[in-house]
Amino acid sequence: MADLSIDFAGIKSPNPFWLASAPPTNTGYQVQRAFEAGWGGAVWKTLGEPVINTSARFAAVHFGGQRVAGFNNIELITDRPLEVNLKEIYETKRRFPDHTIIASLMVEPKREKWHEIVKRVEAIGVDGLELNFGCPHGMAERGMGAASGQQPDLVQAQTAWVKEVATTPVIVKLTPNITDITVVARHAVKGGADAISLINTINSLAGVDIHSWNTIPNVGGQGAHGGYCGPAVKPIALSMVAECARDREVGVPISGIGGISTWQDVVEFMLMGSTGIQVCTAVMHHGFRIVEEMIDGLNHYLDEKGLASVTELIGKSVPKYSNWGDLDLNYQVVAQINEENCINCNKCHIACEDASHQCIDMLTNAEGKAILQVREEDCVGCNLCSIVCPADGAIDMIALEGGAAPMSWNQRSRIISGVNGAYSEVEAG
Ligand SMILES: Cc1cc2nc3c(=O)[nH]c(=O)nc-3n(C[C@H](O)[C@H](O)[C@H](O)COP(=O)(O)O)c2cc1C
Ligand code: SF4
Ligand code: SF4
Repeated sequence: MADLSIDFAGIKSPNPFWLASAPPTNTGYQVQRAFEAGWGGAVWKTLGEPVINTSARFAAVHFGGQRVAGFNNIELITDRPLEVNLKEIYETKRRFPDHTIIASLMVEPKREKWHEIVKRVEAIGVDGLELNFGCPHGMAERGMGAASGQQPDLVQAQTAWVKEVATTPVIVKLTPNITDITVVARHAVKGGADAISLINTINSLAGVDIHSWNTIPNVGGQGAHGGYCGPAVKPIALSMVAECARDREVGVPISGIGGISTWQDVVEFMLMGSTGIQVCTAVMHHGFRIVEEMIDGLNHYLDEKGLASVTELIGKSVPKYSNWGDLDLNYQVVAQINEENCINCNKCHIACEDASHQCIDMLTNAEGKAILQVREEDCVGCNLCSIVCPADGAIDMIALEGGAAPMSWNQRSRIISGVNGAYSEVEAG
């Protein structure tokens, strides 16, 4: 069986499965039960100045029969006194010395506030710190969370203040509510961050009740924007992880967060450059024991791949992720319909006819049976028909061999500008 342990920026963990800072890490009781279930680490619910939470505070988006496709919250950081949290962190660490406990922190952007909380938290023995510059609601209105996380200079300054006194590794948790996440990631690194974690939640409004006209959720009839997470946000999180992983100026370990619910999701995040991962919504939906399936699935996968350690996955797909301008414009795939698996629902025909290139013909074969056939010469290989097809194996996307030599947009542009340059020289000459 493969070795699942990781070393995350100097923080040792028995496996890459950590709980994200959120309701499942609110108390010692919960984190200890999570460790018993198999979680390797936990980022404690964010500690900071006292807050008061609203009721209600959660909402979900159910889509196409799947409950909790997305999750929305207007919860703030911990509403329990700091001393109580510190006592429970101490007890939990003493009971589980080999498991990882990270303290998530959020205070006002003032040097002395950061110094004070870092010293108090490290005094009771944690494995690392995570600076929460991501919470998009409530705390942001007071200048903390996403409000400071959206200002690269402030992220750098606050990270540097923490590093002045911290003795354990410092992870900076980034907000996705920004145009280019790598800008903030680079500033965190300039401030001395040992690692980054991403993503926190995305600005959102879960819905509007069409009967009462109230927002969902609402607090006595009044709503406010919240933070979105869960399976729906996974592609956004994965792309942000990928952008940070391939950015040479970032170059620190990444803890991947956002929509992770299965061992396959974990593999994807690790292949895209995460050293470890964190989970919130899937645990809120299904409980701590989902980690058992994650551990089993990951173990089988690594054995099948012949990998001795989970760390061998880290970043393997990063070189396969580049800019659009570097993609081969001469690479060509076409759709091929397999009659034996087709259930004649016509969805592919409608999709191609109405939204793509009108190249799936409705024909009748020699036995008088209605069949669908792709006109290869007109197919642009967009994938739409195979995406909408409900029958497994009914449509394959086939790569055409023997086309023109690879040529990307960037290569093409360079050649064209070279030709134009030479032409102007001749004209001028
Ligand atoms: C109800 C709720 C409360 C959260 N509270 C915190 C928090 O206190 N600190 C923090 O850094 N992130 C907090 N988060 C964000 C999560 O840690 C995580 O970044 C986000 O939910 C994405 O992961 P997921 O898709 O697995 O839920 C919270 C999320 C939820 C749903
Ligand atoms: S791949 Fe796109 S263009 Fe080709 S048949 Fe399917 S929908 Fe039409
Ligand atoms: S969508 Fe799939 S199953 Fe339906 S007609 Fe097209 S190939 Fe057949």
